[in-house]
Amino acid sequence: MASVNIRKAKKTDAKKIRELMHQQAGEQNTALPPDLSCEGTLYQKIHYNNEHLSTVQRTNKNEVEGYEAQDSRRFTLSAVAENGWGSAAVFVAFVAESVGAKGGELEGYILAHSAYSTWHGRAMFIKEIYVVPSVRHSGVAVRLCRELLQATLSLGCKRCDVRVDKANKAAVGLFEKLGAQNLTEAEDWHLFLMDSKVITEMKTKCEGQGSPQVRPAGPDDMANVMALIQELADYEKMPDGPKINAHKLVTDSSPLDAFFECFVAESDGALVGYTILYHTFSCQGRGVYMEDLYVKPTHRGQGLGTTLMAQVAQCGLTQGASHLEFCVLSWNTPSIAFYQQKGAIDVTVGGGVQVYRFVDSAMRECVQQEL
Ligand SMILES: CC(C)(COP(=O)(O)OP(=O)(O)OC[C@H]1O[C@@H](n2cnc3c(N)ncnc32)[C@H](O)[C@@H]1OP(=O)(O)O)[C@@H](O)C(=O)NCCC(=O)NCCS
Repeated sequence: MASVNIRKAKKTDAKKIRELMHQQAGEQNTALPPDLSCEGTLYQKIHYNNEHLSTVQRTNKNEVEGYEAQDSRRFTLSAVAENGWGSAAVFVAFVAESVGAKGGELEGYILAHSAYSTWHGRAMFIKEIYVVPSVRHSGVAVRLCRELLQATLSLGCKRCDVRVDKANKAAVGLFEKLGAQNLTEAEDWHLFLMDSKVITEMKTKCEGQGSPQVRPAGPDDMANVMALIQELADYEKMPDGPKINAHKLVTDSSPLDAFFECFVAESDGALVGYTILYHTFSCQGRGVYMEDLYVKPTHRGQGLGTTLMAQVAQCGLTQGASHLEFCVLSWNTPSIAFYQQKGAIDVTVGGGVQVYRFVDSAMRECVQQEL
């Protein structure tokens, strides 16, 4: 076993964590065409799936430079430090620090952000895990995951998701060994991505058209939002999915300890649609995740879904998001058509990205088990 100590990351680790992020991107970068030398977020954006790769290859040089400039701004050391330890911190990280002769070196890290499930409530999302090649296969990643899952449980989170590239045998092996379930295989959830260009366009198109019917939700809306959450679960053929209640929604969206933001669409004094979102951080920089989007059948086709989604884009962009992500069931073709028409890309089909999940019992077992 490698001599490392696993501990919570400190602000002074930000520089080294950023270096490890670049090292990780560089390692996987070997698959990129040689003329596209790029690092960090741009690499991730391109690597995400082949469809996007060809888009970038086709764009002219100026446009590619534009992307690089934009992304390097986003991926500065201060961006990492602010997103991890500033007043609006979004991620939590643990590091593996060597002990002994070459003590003090960081040999790996795991990075996650809080998330929200309208079925189970508070959740966590692992966004990055990396162990330097010299100490691999000695249980460091397992220890990083266990520490993170322990922290996840202590925050009262009921599940922890992670997305894994299907071709990444090490990551697939790691998370399966630890008891995570492949949700893409089990329930056919696909991950979709909209890049900064797409979300900026979506937000701009909706600007000025203002819909007085869409507004931020308050605590008094949560009973009605809960009813809409149940309607969405019925539509998704998982009526027993939601296990939370309106009271939990109020607590978990309280400004002091908010796990999510919610917007509602109103018609004649009744709620007819909603969206729930939270902010994310990864090697791609800041992002936004849309957990739910729902409009009642009677009010579809009036632009409410688009306005709600533009609101999510707006929230993300205000915080410097470079992308928007969400999951859709593969049989839900009307919604997929809606998202694709707006420029979303299915990264499960295009890039083989699978969503894995640790449910509550799997997290507990993993933390307790002597592996
Ligand atoms: C994935 C990664 C973090 C694993 O780190 P590690 O310290 O070598 O992992 P561990 O030693 O803790 O391995 C634990 C388990 O993971 C699985 N695993 C690790 N490497 C593997 C590989 N190359 N092939 C298959 N399974 C592997 C095995 O189940 C292993 O258990 P075992 O040792 O009993 O066989 C590391 O390979 C890495 O940093 N890769 C590059 C970054 C990356 O791909 N991150 C994942 C993004 S989702």
